[in-house]
Amino acid sequence: MSTLIEEINRRRTFAIISHPDAGKTTLTEKFLLYGGAIAQAGVVKGKKNSRAATSDWMEIEKQRGISVTSSVMQFQYGGFCINILDTPGHQDFSEDTYRTLMAADSAVMVIDGAKGVEPQTRKLFKVCAMRHIPIFTFVNKMDREAKDPFDLLDELERELGIETYAMNWPIGSGKDFQGVYDRENSQLLFFSGVSGKNRAEKQAIDLYDPQVAQLLDSESKHQQLIEDVELLSAGREMDLEEVRRGNLSPVFFGSALTNFGVEPFLEAFLKLTPPPLSRVADCGTVDAFSPDFSAFVFKIQANMNKAHRDRLAFMRICSGKFQRDAEYYHMQGGKKMRLSQPQQLMAAEREIVEEAYAGDVIGVFDPGIFAIGDTVTVPGKKFLYSGIPTFAPEHFCRVSAKDSMKRKQFVKGTEQIAQEGAIQIFKVPNSGMEEVIVGVVGTLQLDVFQYRMKNEYGVDLRMEMLPYEEIRLIESAACELSDLNLGSDAELLEDYRGRSLLVFSSYWAIDFTVRRNPGLVLQEIVVSEG
Ligand code: G4P
Repeated sequence: MSTLIEEINRRRTFAIISHPDAGKTTLTEKFLLYGGAIAQAGVVKGKKNSRAATSDWMEIEKQRGISVTSSVMQFQYGGFCINILDTPGHQDFSEDTYRTLMAADSAVMVIDGAKGVEPQTRKLFKVCAMRHIPIFTFVNKMDREAKDPFDLLDELERELGIETYAMNWPIGSGKDFQGVYDRENSQLLFFSGVSGKNRAEKQAIDLYDPQVAQLLDSESKHQQLIEDVELLSAGREMDLEEVRRGNLSPVFFGSALTNFGVEPFLEAFLKLTPPPLSRVADCGTVDAFSPDFSAFVFKIQANMNKAHRDRLAFMRICSGKFQRDAEYYHMQGGKKMRLSQPQQLMAAEREIVEEAYAGDVIGVFDPGIFAIGDTVTVPGKKFLYSGIPTFAPEHFCRVSAKDSMKRKQFVKGTEQIAQEGAIQIFKVPNSGMEEVIVGVVGTLQLDVFQYRMKNEYGVDLRMEMLPYEEIRLIESAACELSDLNLGSDAELLEDYRGRSLLVFSSYWAIDFTVRRNPGLVLQEIVVSEG
């Protein structure tokens, strides 16, 4: 029994969130380097190579020039077993990116020191904040000219509405960036070695040591550093409870490229971030350390290959221990089952797993029985984890079948693909189903939808992108909805549950519409319970 507790206790499962190019891939790779999972940096890095390295079953995607894989990587560091959930950015950004955050116990938010908080950081942050998981900030690229660290902390607090606590402080910036002052141990950590391929050498010195002025090449810089540190000490104190509640973000400075500050960050982060959290189910809270296995499906790698119905369901283990040969119970299917070909991604290798513990993520072969949000338990222990929400779409497209004779297949395909959670569908009130409005978080989802409709349902689509970016639920209105005074920058839609919504081409259009329609009350939806 103690090994079960020990194993779960050493798990750390987190997502790294960032705006594209802030350095998420580089930082992930450096974690693997420090964890000994790769011998030298440069293996995972290089986005072109990384996909090939991390996903073998995505050959088809590569041929199609897109990737829909968000991988989970496991490696060991200092006795911890770490699961990093990848949250794709760039053109791969999709609802899956948000769903992945549902499987994390904490998040590392990577910020570009020169750019501060960027749009995608804000979106991902919002989803993490909604779950109240701890969020750790790594201010990256300190080896380049960066904003003033005090200003950065201020920006984080103002833009994201979270309090911050600087765990360390940069020693210089740009080409003068030499390391960090570690506040917990009250020492300066000077790093050397700039290639970033291997671990950076570090030297620890007391802040007040006269040698520091020499290392910094300047008395005044040393003085400035002392002043900064003293100013920080006058500020708020570290409060682990507030970190765990997601109200206070510990902030670290560093450079993923040169490795300066990466190791102290990893060590402090692993100490502060929680082991697998208990989860809410319909039977109450399920303790991660309970011996009975339970898991929920947060992502389905949709079948991309018509010949082999090879879908993978990714599940986050929420409690107990998974064993390859054991029998489990799929709640939604109401059936006992074995989970076949359970696999995990270890650094860059995909491996079949014999056992796994709460905190881990496994991908299992899915013969088409799982849906996003499904619960798997042990036979005899039946309960449901609350479903995975759907997220407010940000792109909308009017879709119909090119060939009107294919109406039936069109309706079946759009409904099934929407049920899988790959897209969200809406309709124009009082219209039939031969035309639907498809809403997605990332445009990649539209490519996948179009491809699958053709390959699985034999339907060629007519698709017209709509200029909308924002969606609001109508809470109340002073008139019939069909009488609302809407300009060309807003449209009335209904979702599959019959709820009325408005879509807008901009924030500005929301304001304008509300002013033109007294009594109209709208509600923002970050998520809807699924
Ligand atoms: P992402 O996953 O968040 O999109 O970012 P990624 O790690 O791919 O990094 C984006 C770019 O920023 C890369 O440069 C990377 O080398 C650079 N970078 C990452 N961390 C640091 C850092 O700490 N300091 C500096 N100066 N640069 C950093 P690139 O030119 O796009 O790619 P590459 O040609 O260098 O591979």
